Amino acid sequence: MTQQDILQKTADYIKQEFSGDSSGHDWWHIYRVWKNAITICEHEHADSFIIQLAALLHDLDDWKFNAAEDETPHRAKAWLDSLSVDPSITDKVCNIITHISYKGAGVENKMDSPEGFIVQDADRLDAIGAIGIARAFAYGGYKNRPLYDPDSLPEMHQTFEQYKNSKSATINHFYEKLLLLKDMMNTNTARRIAEQRHEVMVQYLSQFMDEWEGKDVE
Ligand code: ADP
Ligand code: NI
Repeated sequence: MTQQDILQKTADYIKQEFSGDSSGHDWWHIYRVWKNAITICEHEHADSFIIQLAALLHDLDDWKFNAAEDETPHRAKAWLDSLSVDPSITDKVCNIITHISYKGAGVENKMDSPEGFIVQDADRLDAIGAIGIARAFAYGGYKNRPLYDPDSLPEMHQTFEQYKNSKSATINHFYEKLLLLKDMMNTNTARRIAEQRHEVMVQYLSQFMDEWEGKDVE
C-alpha cells in the first residue's frame, strides 16, 4: 500500500469513528488539526507522513473518551498494524499520541520529536481562538459543567490526576489551559498564529465579564 493509500484509509476510518461527536472532538477537529499540521510542516523540517498519521489518529485513544489501562494508544497501534505500517513508523506515531495531551498547567511536556512538536501545536491551535471558544463550551456542555461560577476560582493543576478530576466551570478552563497555550507553542510558525487567536479569547472574556456584571446595561 502506498503512503497515500494509508493516509486515505486512515482518514476514512477516523471520519467514521468521530462522526457523531458533540464534545468538540468531532471529525472536523481532526480534519483541522491534520490540515494545520501539514501547513506548519511546510515551514519546519519534519516527516510529513508521520505527522499526518499522528494528526489523524491523535484523539482515538484520548483519556477523555477511553478508560486507559496504560499509556499505549492501543487503538491507534492496532489500526496501523492492520495496515502493515512499518513498525518504526508506528512507534514514532504512537509516541506522539502518548504525549500530545495537555495534562495540567504545572505538568511538564514530554513531547520529544520535531513531528510531535508540530502535531501538538496544530492540536493546540484548534483549542484557542474563535473555534477554541466554541469547543470549550461544547465540551463543558458534554460534561454538564456550568458556563461560569463566580464562587469557584481557576486552579493551576500540578498533577495530571488533579487536572483530570477537575469539574470546574468552562470559563475556568480558559485560565487553566487555553490562555496558557500561546506561550507553550513549540514552533515559531504556530506561535505566530497563536498570538491573534489568543487576543480573540482575551477580548471575548472581557466582554463575557462585562455582560455578566451588567456593565453594558444601563
Ligand atoms: P488535549 O488532549 O490537549 O486536551 P484535545 O484535542 O483533546 O486536546 O482537545 C481539548 C479540548 O477539549 C480543549 O481545548 C477544550 O476545548 C475541551 N476541554 C477539555 N477539558 C475541558 C474543560 N475542563 N472545560 C472545557 N473544555 C474542555
Ligand atoms: Ni485534538
